[in-house]
Amino acid sequence: MALLEILHYPDPRLRKSAEAVAKVTDEIRRLAEDMLETMYKAPGIGLAAPQVNVGKRVVVIDVSEEKSSPLYLINPEIVHREGTEQMEEGCLSVPGVFDLVERSERVTMHALNLDGKPFELDADGLLAVCIQHEIDHLNGKLFIDYLSSLKRQRIRKKLGKREKPQRQVL
Ligand code: NI
Repeated sequence: MALLEILHYPDPRLRKSAEAVAKVTDEIRRLAEDMLETMYKAPGIGLAAPQVNVGKRVVVIDVSEEKSSPLYLINPEIVHREGTEQMEEGCLSVPGVFDLVERSERVTMHALNLDGKPFELDADGLLAVCIQHEIDHLNGKLFIDYLSSLKRQRIRKKLGKREKPQRQVL
């Protein structure tokens, strides 16, 4: 396994839509395991392949406190939604930023597992929020897109600066 580099906003590569996985191969399984290791190390509870610069519809999630219940989602799709709720979200690609986002309270999702077998999952609470957040990543969308443009501008200023070398003041 290997740790992968996580892209940070405003990197334009985070804005690309990811392609469906045609076949769950060893390469996809290795990617998913590397993503899981990277997510645990960060630490985070969800990671989507575009965040590590891979344009494939692969997501890993683990909302358990013991980091013992990894969930691998290949080509995940939400097929049913119910209710709305607000939860404070953060993102490994937008470090240090947390804000309230409104999402569906309960979702039903279809995906493939690492054996390429389809499965269905009903989720609510944190897991439901996490699934919606990660599927957004597959579509080039970030949680800060739900915030006001003023807030987004501030975040862009704050994180955009970090990438540039320090200026010398003489
Ligand atoms: Ni994220």
